[in-house]
Formats: sequence, C-alpha cells, structure tokens
Amino acid sequence: MKYNFDEIIKRSKTNSKKWNSTYYKSLFNNQEDLLSMWIADMDFRASDGIQNRLKKLIDFGVYGYGAIDDEYYNAIIRWNKFRNGWEVPKDAIIYTPGIVPAVNYILQTYTNQDDSVMIFSPVYGPFKRSIINNKRKVVEYSLLKDEENYYSMDFEEVEKLVKEKDVKMVIFCSPHNPVGRVWTKEELENIADICLRNNVLMVCDEIHSDLIFGDNKFVSYGNLDEKYRNNGIICNAVSKTFNLAGMQVSNIIIFDKILREKYKNTMALYNILA
Ligand SMILES: Cc1ncc(COP(=O)(O)O)c(C=O)c1O
Repeated sequence: MKYNFDEIIKRSKTNSKKWNSTYYKSLFNNQEDLLSMWIADMDFRASDGIQNRLKKLIDFGVYGYGAIDDEYYNAIIRWNKFRNGWEVPKDAIIYTPGIVPAVNYILQTYTNQDDSVMIFSPVYGPFKRSIINNKRKVVEYSLLKDEENYYSMDFEEVEKLVKEKDVKMVIFCSPHNPVGRVWTKEELENIADICLRNNVLMVCDEIHSDLIFGDNKFVSYGNLDEKYRNNGIICNAVSKTFNLAGMQVSNIIIFDKILREKYKNTMALYNILA
C-alpha cells in the first residue's frame, strides 16, 4: 500500500506538544524563534492498517479496560522476528504505558536510594531526570566525538567509572538518541560484558531501532548471548516506528524470570498488570 509522505498536515491548532508554542516555549525559557524540532514526533498520519483497526474500535464505541490478549503478544513477537531475527518469549513481554514511566519503574525495582546509575551523554533527557527524581545518583560517561561528529566510547574508561562510582545500573540508548549511533555488536557486547563483570543491570532502550539509515545494521540486545540477555532489560515501543506516541504503549522485555517477577511486582503495585 502506497503512503503519501508529501501530504502536509497542519497540527499547529491541535493540542500537539510539538506544535503548541505556549507549551514548548515554557520548556525553553520562553525564547522566541524556536523551531518545532525538539521532540521525536512525526507529522505523518497513521498508516491505513492502523487507521482501519482504530476505526473498528471507534465504531464499537466502548473504551473500557482492556486485557492484553494473544493478538497483541503475537504482533510484538512477529514484528521483532521480522526486524531483528529473534523470537521474544511471550512471557518475557511486559506491557507498560510508556518507556519513560518504565524507566522510573525499573529504577524503583532494581536500585535503592543513592545508588549510582550510569548514562552515556549526551542522551535523551528524561533518563537523567528520572534518576534524579528517584533520588539515585547520576553517573555520566561523556561519549567521545571525533571531528566528523562520530561518537564512540573508551571501554576501559567506562569500566573504570563503573568501578569508581559503584554503579548499579546502566541505562543505554540503542540506537543512541541524540547522537545517532547504531551501536555495533562488538560495542554492545563490550558494555554488556562490563555490566556482567561488575554486577550491573543493563537497561537497553531500543525505541528508535526501526529507524535505521544507510549501511547501519541494528543489533538488538536480544541478539546477544543468553548470559547477557539474562542480565538485561530491553525497552521497546511502537511509538516512534509508527508515529503512535500518544497511545502510550511500550513493551518491556525481561528474559530472566527472577528479574521479571520483581518488575511485575512493581507493576502490580501501580495496578498496571496486563
Ligand atoms: C530514547 C527514547 N526513549 C523513550 C522515549 C519516549 O518513550 P515513551 O513515549 O514510550 O515514554 C523517547 C522519545 O523521544 C526516546 O527518544
């Protein structure tokens, strides 16, 4: 089915955070002449398939509490297999209303107050805010940038920092927002190894993983060996790929049963269990 990417859809008079100037100016010290390029929200209409499915729901007209059924899980499993070549075990998928809320629940589940949590800056702002809001300590490793604006890491330095600051959790953005790096398998394994060696939980936010350009090849954390998978959590969502951010649907994938039960207990606390 062809999609018309040239159609210009005006959203300025809608309640879109991206386009509502009163809203976004308040975030940026009321500066004038700002461009609405500050949020990963596209101006494309949802595809016909999505529109048709939603129209069915609108025609039905009842929007009560819904359970997560096999149609939902199968869609996630199928899409992941198609894109990343590995099969997510159904049990490992935990629906959560948004990755940012999930990062907060993850912090609350696996770390304690004053624990150190590492991020790789510059990175998506809510990671740092969530760590601070939950009264954990932010440990920032500054990514290295060369003259061609290519970002990389010095793994020895990363590990040194992990040890020095007694880091308990790493929040990793893969692919990385905003530096645009699609991490190689080797880079991903290096970080995963550092985490494993130092008893650090690895949280891998893969929300941008379907939007890969050029010769880059995305490697999911789920493509790695079981020993890494069992020490990690993948955060994923349909919101960027299909421009559905307002739906607030994300999927948290936790392979290890004990880690998964802990997260589910937090979900139960907030009454979010599917
Ligand atoms: C790296 C990253 N994680 C998470 C989000 C937001 O996720 P959600 O809307 O599911 O909270 C974004 C949005 O831009 C993002 O760039």
